[in-house]
Amino acid sequence: MSSEFRVKAITRLHAEFSVPGDKSMSHRAAILGGLSNGSCTIRNFLPSEDCVNTLNAMKSLGANYEVLEALEGYGPVDLVIHGQSGKLSAPAAPIDCGNSGTGMRLLAGLLAGQPFTTELFGDASLSGRPMGRITVPLGQMGANIETKGEKPGCAPLLIHGAKLTPIDYDMPVASAQVKSAVLLAGLFADGTTSVTQPAETRDHTERMLTSFRVSTKHEGNTISIYGGQVPEATDFIVPGDISSAAFWLVAAAAIPGSRLVIKNVGLNPTRTAILKVLSRMGAHMIDVLHETHGEPIGNVEIHGAELHGTTIFPEEVPNLIDEIPVIAVAAALAEGRTIIRNAKELRVKETDRITTVVDNLRAMGANVTEFEDGMEIEGGAPLHGATIDSFGDHRIAMAFAIAGLFASGETVIRNVECVNTSYPGFAHHLDAIRREKSAPEDFNLPTVSK
Ligand code: S3P
Repeated sequence: MSSEFRVKAITRLHAEFSVPGDKSMSHRAAILGGLSNGSCTIRNFLPSEDCVNTLNAMKSLGANYEVLEALEGYGPVDLVIHGQSGKLSAPAAPIDCGNSGTGMRLLAGLLAGQPFTTELFGDASLSGRPMGRITVPLGQMGANIETKGEKPGCAPLLIHGAKLTPIDYDMPVASAQVKSAVLLAGLFADGTTSVTQPAETRDHTERMLTSFRVSTKHEGNTISIYGGQVPEATDFIVPGDISSAAFWLVAAAAIPGSRLVIKNVGLNPTRTAILKVLSRMGAHMIDVLHETHGEPIGNVEIHGAELHGTTIFPEEVPNLIDEIPVIAVAAALAEGRTIIRNAKELRVKETDRITTVVDNLRAMGANVTEFEDGMEIEGGAPLHGATIDSFGDHRIAMAFAIAGLFASGETVIRNVECVNTSYPGFAHHLDAIRREKSAPEDFNLPTVSK
C-alpha cells in the first residue's frame, strides 16, 4: 500500500459490499478462544495489525493457532485457535501490543491473575495513553503492575500476576476496555467480581463470554462474573465492523441519490448509534435487516440526501466514540450546526482526536469551534482539497479520505499505513468507490488458503 491517499470528488455512489471483521470482537475471540478448553474455529477474523498482535500475544502465552485462510499481505481471516483450558504459560519475551489500546488493556486484565510476570509494550501512540484506568482496579484486585513509560501511568506495563481478590468496581470512565479488563481478571479471582459502568458501553465481552458458556450476571449497569470458570470452546463468526462501515455510510449519506448496502455487518445496539445519527441528519435508512447468533448481524441499506446538522446526545457518545471523526466530516457537509460535546475521551485515543479532527477540517475550509470536550461544526462551507496528516491515527486517515470525496481539487492524506491497524483493504475499497461505476467484485479482497 502506498503511504498516501490521493482523493478527488465523486458525484455518485452505488455499491454493495461487506467490510472486514469487527475489531473489538476479533480481539475478544482471540483471547477467549485461547483461554478455552478446546479448539475454536474463528471465521472472518479481522486480519489487521491490532488483532494479529493479540492473536500472537495469545500464542506467546501458549495458545497456538493455525491459519485456514488469510488476506493476502495481511493476517488470518479464518483460523483455528487451540485453547489452553485457562492455564497460560509465561511468555519468552515482552509482548508487543502495537497501536492497540484494546489489546493492551484486555491482555493486562487477563495477565493480572497469572502466576508469572509479563511485559506489555506498544508503539509511541500507545505508550502515551493512560493505563491508570486499568492498573488501579487490577491493583485493587492484588496484581502489581508497574507502568514503566516515560510518561507517568503509561506503558510499557510490567505485570506481576498474583492470586486475585474480587472487587466491586465503580468505573470512573465509560470504557468497555476497562470493563473488559476487570471482567477478564475476575475470571481468575476467587469469588464474584462486579463492575459498574457510568454509562452503557459496548457489550461484546459479556456477549462473547456467554457464547463461551461463561456465566455473567447483569443488573442495570453492573456486570458480575464468578471466578474459576473455564470458557468452553466454541466456533465464532465475526460480523463486519460497523466502525469500518461508517466511512462508507457517511459518504453515501452525503450524496443525494446514492444507494449503498453494507452486508453482514455487526448491528449490536451498543454500536449502532451511527445509524441513528445519520438518519437524524436526513439520510434514509431503507433497510436494516438482522438476525442474532450471540451478536446481531445484518445488512444496512442507506440512501443519501441533503444532510442537516444535529446534536449528539451525551448517552450516545460511548456508542459512537470511534465514529466521531467521520461524523464530524458528515457535519461539515451538512447544512447547519452540529454539536458534539461530552466527548473528552477522544483526547486519549490513538491521537487527540478533537485536535486532529478540528485542525484537519479547518485545513479543508470547514468552520469548526474546538471545546475541551468536543466541537461545534457550522456545516455547509465548501470543502477544498488540502494536504492532510493522519498523525498515525487510522480513523483520522480514513475520515479525511471521505472528506476528500467531497472537496474541490485534490486531497492528499499522508501517513496512511496506520489504516492497517483496523481496516486492511480500505485503499482497495476507496479505489472501487472512486471509480463510481463499480461492480460487486471490485470490492472483493484477495484471500489465500493455507
Ligand atoms: C473498544 C472500546 C472503545 C473503542 C475502541 C475499542 C473495545 O474504547 O474506542 O476502539 O474493543 O472495547 P473505550 O472503551 O476505552 O472507550
